[in-house]
Formats: sequence, structure tokens, C-alpha cells
Amino acid sequence: MNSGPALAFEKRKALAESRWKELFQQPRILVGTATCGRAAGGLEVLKTIREELKKAGQSIPVMEVGCMGHCYAEPLVVISKPDSDYAPIVYGYVTPEIARLLVRDSILGDDPSLEFMLGALEANEALPSLTDLPRFRYEKPVLLENCGRIDPEDVDQYIANGGYAGLDKALEMKPQDVIELVRKAGLKGRGGAGFSTVVKWETCRNSAETPKYLICNGDEGDPGAFMDRAILESDPHSVIEGMIIAAYAIGAGLGYIYVRAEYPLAVERVRHALRQAEDSNLLGKNILGSGFSFTIRLFEGSGAFVCGEETALIASIEGKPGLPRHRPPFPATKGLFGKPTIINNVKTLASVSRIVSRGLGWYSSLGINDHSSGTAVFALAGKVVNTGLTEVPMGTSLRQVIFEVGGGIPKGKKFKAVQIGGPSGGCLPESTLDLPIDFDSLTEAGAMMGSGGMVVLDEDDCMVDVARFFLEFTQNESCGKCTLCRLGTRQMLEILQSIAQGKAMAGDLKVLAELARDVKAASLCNLGKTAPNPILTTLRYFEEEYEAHIKEGRCPARRCPDLMAYYIIPEKCERSCDACVGTCTVEAIYVGQKRVKVIDQAKCVKCGTCVPACPPQYNAIVKISPLSELPEALPALKAKG
Ligand SMILES: Cc1cc2nc3c(=O)[nH]c(=O)nc-3n(C[C@H](O)[C@H](O)[C@H](O)COP(=O)(O)O)c2cc1C
Ligand code: SF4
Ligand code: SF4
Repeated sequence: MNSGPALAFEKRKALAESRWKELFQQPRILVGTATCGRAAGGLEVLKTIREELKKAGQSIPVMEVGCMGHCYAEPLVVISKPDSDYAPIVYGYVTPEIARLLVRDSILGDDPSLEFMLGALEANEALPSLTDLPRFRYEKPVLLENCGRIDPEDVDQYIANGGYAGLDKALEMKPQDVIELVRKAGLKGRGGAGFSTVVKWETCRNSAETPKYLICNGDEGDPGAFMDRAILESDPHSVIEGMIIAAYAIGAGLGYIYVRAEYPLAVERVRHALRQAEDSNLLGKNILGSGFSFTIRLFEGSGAFVCGEETALIASIEGKPGLPRHRPPFPATKGLFGKPTIINNVKTLASVSRIVSRGLGWYSSLGINDHSSGTAVFALAGKVVNTGLTEVPMGTSLRQVIFEVGGGIPKGKKFKAVQIGGPSGGCLPESTLDLPIDFDSLTEAGAMMGSGGMVVLDEDDCMVDVARFFLEFTQNESCGKCTLCRLGTRQMLEILQSIAQGKAMAGDLKVLAELARDVKAASLCNLGKTAPNPILTTLRYFEEEYEAHIKEGRCPARRCPDLMAYYIIPEKCERSCDACVGTCTVEAIYVGQKRVKVIDQAKCVKCGTCVPACPPQYNAIVKISPLSELPEALPALKAKG
């Protein structure tokens, strides 16, 4: 029993808690300045609030916080005034002008500016709160619990909210007991493959080779994914704490956090957090007086998707080209510099700190069974009302995530599919929406948990085009080492392109499916092995769309540019409004007989900007596919089609 360090930590914790309490006794302002907030103008809002407060001679604390999950409503500001009649209020879509009004009316005055309110932060008697939103019934923030609530640059705020208690506890346990706890919790890796965390840990721990290394994989190259970035930017200490515990469990003395250089804010926040952890003796020599020493280095990756693959990532830290290699030997036995190495995802490590601090019962109660315990974090993107970050217990259905948390499909459009798991995952149709989200059922349906990217597609999305998009990504990112990955993906892409152009032949679908199976079977790493998944799932669930392209020259979603045209219905055109003419950047819309507008199909670049320009009461501009259905007035184009 190591009571010395525990006592030292308890003292630190008590101080941090009293600072945190103090913060709540005075007015305070939070501004979301993670990448999502910054992209929406959060830094200008922050600057405005600080300037206005300075002008007014006020020194109210203005805290930068990370991502609150409601990315669709960024920039977000929270104003908390303990002496007022109101609970802390979250304001959304804040512009510098609104920020000025908020300072004048809400912070310095007594008007809570409810017209800009997204909701009160917590349930209360007076105001509608964010907890009243339907999504609140389904979400369970665990890995995201601190995101948007604490200042990521203040280690004390993390400690005051339960941070580093897991480390303190782990250092009083035997490393084997930490491994046992994580085994019983059933933790599976959140980096994509869902492999048992302790199976790897134990192999590394049991290896006689030294030194041992631990790497946190923060590469995150999947299109549409931003979960790991958000955690690193918003709560970096939770990942660092998980790393120290994991290093203690496996016996590593040196670790690396691999973050892509294209994530500059994550890099900055992690660097700052590492310095703070070192200064607080939570990292470095003789951590909390326990005798255990561990150092973490930050490594900035160059941002190639394949560098997220564990053996490629190791090569890249070693200063070699980031190319995957054959496994076995697995990194757990022969990894960085030929030594036993554990690579874990950001979310996996952030889970470790919670499992140790809160215990087994708590973690097991989150998921559905031993196969899928804990929570799943998703980056919701695409055709969904509430784009952003969410975390739900395993077992929540896709429908609940998309329609309750995500608020459904915008503009009254129909749901078509959800692309889950990035380029390694697949597209699932409406019939699968009631599937529980867990490792097994998603794999059975042809997709996979992946790392958490969830792109929602509506009736305007073409499944051939979606498959083509993801394949183009993997084809570009293939390192080229394996012939089937290098050439097979290119050949599949060419077939998809010819289908989208209406130039494919009847036998092409068979060739596509065969190639997909071959690339899966003969590729060395999971980039190639999973690259065909978007094709295989779209063929499984949407084969009729492929058939329509090939047999009828028709794109059912009227999306593929070579198979569709924009057309102005003469009877619907108002004739004198002219709204569409000015919007067309290539001057393809001309004034025809009796002032009816006509699209010159030879000039039209299919950008679609004219469609929303046409007033809804006329709605005269439509998309037509196949081209043979274009009215008789356009014979030249029909002949081409
Ligand atoms: C092409 C490719 C890219 C990958 N990118 C990532 C990534 O960005 N982050 C990640 O954690 N795992 C990524 N992985 C999975 C890793 O190879 C590895 O399985 C994972 O980091 C292990 O951590 P976990 O056990 O905690 O899931 C990728 C795999 C492949 C094949
Ligand atoms: S499967 Fe593709 S990305 Fe992976 S090693 Fe082979 S060529 Fe490179
Ligand atoms: S915007 Fe619509 S109604 Fe107006 S001229 Fe163009 S097609 Fe006709």
C-alpha cells in the first residue's frame, strides 16, 4: 500500500476542487474554441467578448473550452451568472455582433437574451434546457464528459472533475491487476478493428524483451471523422492519463502520442498538457512517488491515411517511410525499434482512465454484453440536422443516433443510407436502422464500428457515387506495396467511373464483385483488405441502383453528372422573374421565346446553383435522368446521352 503518493494526490485534488468550486461562485463565460468552433468564427467571438469586457472595466473570467458536441450551432458561448435567476445558458450561432449584445445585455445587464439561446446547460424550472432535447435520452457522455466543460489547458480543472484519480488508483495496484480489471471490463480497441485491448497488453507485458513502448494513435485519417481530434483538443489529459496507466500495466518507460500535423490545435493542446503533467509529477520520473517512471514524446505525423496503420505508424516514428509490413510478428512482440510495443487509439486510452477510476461495475453497465461494453463515440456528418459529436452506450440503435440525436434528415428529404466506419466501413440501408450499435451486428451487416465516422446520406445521394468517393480516397492513399491494392483499387475505381458515366457493360458488376473479393483477400494491410467494403455493401443493398446506371443510363438519385441534366419546365417558369439567370456562373441560362428561360445544355456544368434561385412558388428547375427523357427541344443532347 503506497499511502504517501495517494496522500500527495489527495491534497492536490482537494486544492483543484476548491479552485473549481470558486469558479462557480462567480460569473463566468465559456467559449467553444475547438476546431469546429474556430471554423465557425469562435476566435472572433472570444476576442469580441474579451474586448467588450475590457472596455467595460470588467474582469469576468472568459474560458476557452473544447467541443460541446453541438457542432451544427457553433460558435457556442455559455454564460453563467450564479447570482441571477437563470441557470447557465448556452447560446448558439453566436456572431461578434451577437457577442457584443450578450456582453451588454446578458453579462453586464440583467436581460438573458433568450432570443440567442440554444438552451440552458442543465435542467431547471425557468428555461428549456439542452437536457430537454430528445438526444439527451440517448446520449451518455463518458469519453466526452469533460469536452466543452473544462479548460483543456488547465490540469486542475481535469483533476477537479475526477481526472488522474485512475492513475493514482492504478499506481497502488499491481500491473497485472490493472490488466485484469481492463480484461473484465471487456475493453475493445476503438481504432477500428475492435481487438481486445488486454490480449495485446498481456503479450507485451509477458515479453522478456525490453524496453517496451506505448504509442497513442491519434492519426485519424478517415474522411468525415473528427472524434479523436475533438478529444485531444478538448480533454487531452484523459488520454495522457490512460497512457500512463497503460504504460504501467505493460511495463513501458517511454511512449509517443502520434498526432497528424494537420491537427495543429490538437498538437498544441497535447504539448501543453504534457508539460503540465510533467510539472505536476504525473508524468516523468517517479510518478507521484510510486517508483514508476514514464515519459511521453509528441510525434507529429505527416498525415498520410496509411500511417494510421500500426506497423506503418511505427515505421514513420522510426524515421522510415510510413509503409505497413507483414504481421506477425505483431507490434506487441516486435514493434518500435524491434521492441515490444502497444499501439492504442485515443478513445481506447481515454476509456482506460475511466475504467480504473470508476471500476468494473460502472463500465459493464454501460454496454450490452461482454462483446460490446462501454460507449461509442460518433462524428455525425452529412445529411443530418445536428451534425457534431455524440456518445451513446453500445446497443443504441442507428435509428436513435440518426433521428433522435442527429435530429433526422434536413429539408424533409428521405433517409437513404448511413456510411459507417469510414472507407473501411460500409453503407447500411433503412432496413438496418434498428440494429443495435455493437461490434458484432455491424460487422454482420457488412459494415464495421470503425473509428466512429458516421456519414448520413439522403435520397439525393447516389450509392455508386458514394462508393466511388470512398474508393477514390483509398486508391489515392494506398501505399502501393501490394499489387492488388495498388492496381485492384484503380481498376475498381475505373469500373465505378464508367458505371457513373453510363459507359459500363452488363458483365462489369461481376468483375467488380470479383475484384473486390480479390483485393480483400490479397492485400497486406487493412487499408487494402477493407477498401472494397463500400462497394460490397452498396452492391449488397443497392444493386438496383448499379443496374439502373448500366442498363437504363439512369442515375436514380439524379446525381451522376453524365446521366442527368437540369431542365427548366416552360409551363412552370414565371418568365419575368429572371432569378436564375444571374446565378449561373457560366451563363448557360438564356432567355427563350416568350421570355421562358432555357438552359443551354452544352454550356451547363451541372453545378445546380440555379435550383435554389428559382422561387419555391415556381419550382421550375428540375433534374432529369436518363437524358433520353429530356423534352424533344433538345435532340442534340439526347443523341449524346
Ligand atoms: C489504413 C489504416 C489506417 C488506420 N488509422 C488509424 C487511426 O487513425 N487511428 C487508430 O487508432 N487506428 C487506426 N488504424 C488501426 C490501427 O492499425 C490499430 O489497429 C489501432 O491503432 C489499434 O488501437 P486500438 O486497439 O486501441 O483500436 C488504422 C488502420 C489502417 C489499416
Ligand atoms: S494493402 Fe495497400 S496500403 Fe496496405 S500495404 Fe498493401 S498496398 Fe500498401
Ligand atoms: S428562376 Fe425559375 S421562375 Fe425565375 S426565370 Fe428562372 S426558371 Fe423561371
